[in-house]
Order: sequence, then C-alpha cells, then structure tokens
Amino acid sequence: MEALRRIDEDDAFANLVLAKELDRLSLPSRDRRLVTELVYGTTRMRRACDHLVDRFVLEPPGAQARALLRVGAYQLLFTGIPPYAAISATVAAAPPRLRGFVNAVLRRCSDAVRGGADAISWPDDATRLSYPDWIIDLLVGELGRATALASLEAMNQAPSVTTRDDGYIQDLASQWVAVAVGARSGERVLDTCAAPGGKATLMARSGATVVAMDRYTHRAGLIRANAARLGLTDRIEVVVADAQRLPFGTDGAVGTGTVARFDRVLVDAPCSGLGALRRRPDARWRIEAAAVERLAELQREMLAATVPFLGDGARLVYSVCTMTRAETIAIDQWLRDRYPNLEPVAGPPPEGAWRPWGRGWLVLPQDAGTDGMFLLQLEWNPT
Ligand SMILES: C[S@@+](CC[C@H](N)C(=O)[O-])C[C@H]1O[C@@H](n2cnc3c(N)ncnc32)[C@H](O)[C@@H]1O
Repeated sequence: MEALRRIDEDDAFANLVLAKELDRLSLPSRDRRLVTELVYGTTRMRRACDHLVDRFVLEPPGAQARALLRVGAYQLLFTGIPPYAAISATVAAAPPRLRGFVNAVLRRCSDAVRGGADAISWPDDATRLSYPDWIIDLLVGELGRATALASLEAMNQAPSVTTRDDGYIQDLASQWVAVAVGARSGERVLDTCAAPGGKATLMARSGATVVAMDRYTHRAGLIRANAARLGLTDRIEVVVADAQRLPFGTDGAVGTGTVARFDRVLVDAPCSGLGALRRRPDARWRIEAAAVERLAELQREMLAATVPFLGDGARLVYSVCTMTRAETIAIDQWLRDRYPNLEPVAGPPPEGAWRPWGRGWLVLPQDAGTDGMFLLQLEWNPT
C-alpha cells in the first residue's frame, strides 16, 4: 500500500519504490513475487480498476481509500486470488476507519465481476485496457485497430525474462538490434546512447572496440559496471557526452586532430517507449502526447550529429523501443530526403521476428513476446 501510495501521490517511479519497499520488508520469495504482481499490476490496470470501483462509490475516495480499492479491484479482476481472500486481505490492510467502507465496496465489485473481466461493460477500449486515451487513439490511428489493440493487450502482461549466455538480462528484440549492427573483430563502433550498456556489451563480445557514450554520468557508471562484470573493460571505452554534439574532434581522440571515423554507429535513441510498456507499469501514465514530437526532433538531431563520423561504407543503425510513426517511418523518410548517401544495407533481413517498416523493420509486442522495437540499418556510400 505504501508503494502504491508513493507511485500515485508522489509520482514516484514504480520500479524504484518497489525495490526499496521489498528491501525493507525482507519477505520470502513467493511473497515478493505477489507484492510485485500487486504493485505493478494495480499500477498498470489503474484505469480499469477505477472504472469498476467508481460504480459503487458516491464520491471520489481519498488517496488511501483509492489505493486500497484499486488493489482490491485488481485482485478481483485480474488475478486468480479467491474473492473472499482478496477482500479480507485488503480490508485487513486498511486503517480501522476505512475497513467498513472498503469491505462494502469490494463486495459489490466482487458480485459485479463474478463472470470475469469480460462480463463487465467497459465504456471503451482505453478503459478496458487501462491506457490514457491519447495512446489508444494514436496507435489505433497509425497501426489500425486490431494491430494496435493486440500490442496494447500484450503490454498488459508481465514481461518475459531473457538471459544472454554471459548472464546479462536483455530483451530479445534488443539483442536483435545489437546483432543487426554487425560489429566485427577489430572494428571501431560508436554507441551514442549506450547506458546501461546492454547493446554495447553484446557488440564488444564480437571483438570490436566500442565507444559507449551517454549523456549522464551516473548512467555511464552503469556501462562501466556492466563492462567490468562481463570482462569487457578492454573493449569498451565509456564517454560522458551529449549525442547531439559529439565530442570527437579530428584525430580520433576526444577533442583534437584528423576526423574520428567509425565503422559502425548505433543510435539507440531516447524515445516515447510505447513498445516497452510491459516493463514499466507506470510509464503509460507518465508519458505525454507532446513528448513524441519532441523526442522525434531529438532523434533527428542525434542522427545528424553522427554523419560526419561515418567512414566510407560505414553502417548507421537507428533503433527505438516504440512504434509511433513520428519516431519510426517519419525518421526514415527524413533521413532519406536529407542524406541520399545513406542507403539501406543490402542482404538478407536482420535476424529476428521483424516485419518491413519503411526502409527499416518493426517488431510488435504481440509478434514474438519481445518489446516493440524499430530498427533501421543504413550504409554511408559517398558518391
Ligand atoms: C534507449 S536507452 C539506451 C539503452 C542502451 N543502448 C542499452 O542497450 O542498454 C537511451 C539512453 O540515452 C541516454 N541519453 C538521453 N539523452 C541523451 C543525449 N542527449 N546524449 C546521449 N545520451 C542520451 C539515456 O541516458 C539512456 O541511457
């Protein structure tokens, strides 16, 4: 309840709050799993839970009652927990002054969901699937209703965990992106948005030298820690810098001499993250519609900044964990118009469950149980 209160009232990040509360509580592992499911699930399905509850309250409940009713409704709607157990445990977590109220409302909710979540009459898809209107409207408009709703439904499930053979936990679609860079032994690779280093470490394992950049010092520290843990410090050079203004001068060292060229450049740009909502249960309530175009502008600037550093035949890879047109196809079109020398790489499709998307590739969350991801592989061919 404390975690839910902080996520809701203080706008705290769900993963950070939950980790802190779990540390404090030292619960056995199955209780940790249950707490995680209740906090993440209730946060994710907040809008659907409120819809159920709001039919049985006369005025909006205060913050504490709201959190209790949500977690109760979540259990009734979306878990296999028997209703009597869900209600009595939730009532037991309430302060004495709220117990009667929480009990009465949850009993009525329980009656209403006896036929399961499908028995409820939902006013619209956004309420049923528990997303803000703008996300539903945008994706339905851009992907079509059936495809968009399948993506959004898939992202209401907890993510699967994929562990690489070196022990690093990384979503499969992210691994496909790192592989699509095609780094080879002896090459110089620039990863401009590299923290925490998932793709950088995978690329470095090929024997390439990776310059792994991130704007934020504390995040660059995560790359260093991951490189050290995986025994890759010799092949990963961590640089703290802004990808919109690359710090390479002209001799390959930071700041001076002839132009530093790279064989491959990965721009794994900050994005709206609409393909990775499984992983961040509170993200859907945090992102704003206006951020999409702002991020697309940032993505364009980051891509443009890399062009002077592409050697002849160098590969430029752009990826984002989202599927908005502005951050995928429109970026591709912009690059095509502005840099005719950047051509799609020849050869077979990249490894993974990709579908063609512009000159690049898209994987949706429902396609292969991964995050939704866009990938564009281009080659610098000066005429
Ligand atoms: C999608 S994440 C990168 C994930 C990483 N490539 C991996 O595979 O582990 C985007 C990263 O961009 C960084 N970032 C945001 N703005 C930046 C900027 N202006 N310059 C460089 N990095 C930036 C963020 O700190 C974040 O670590």
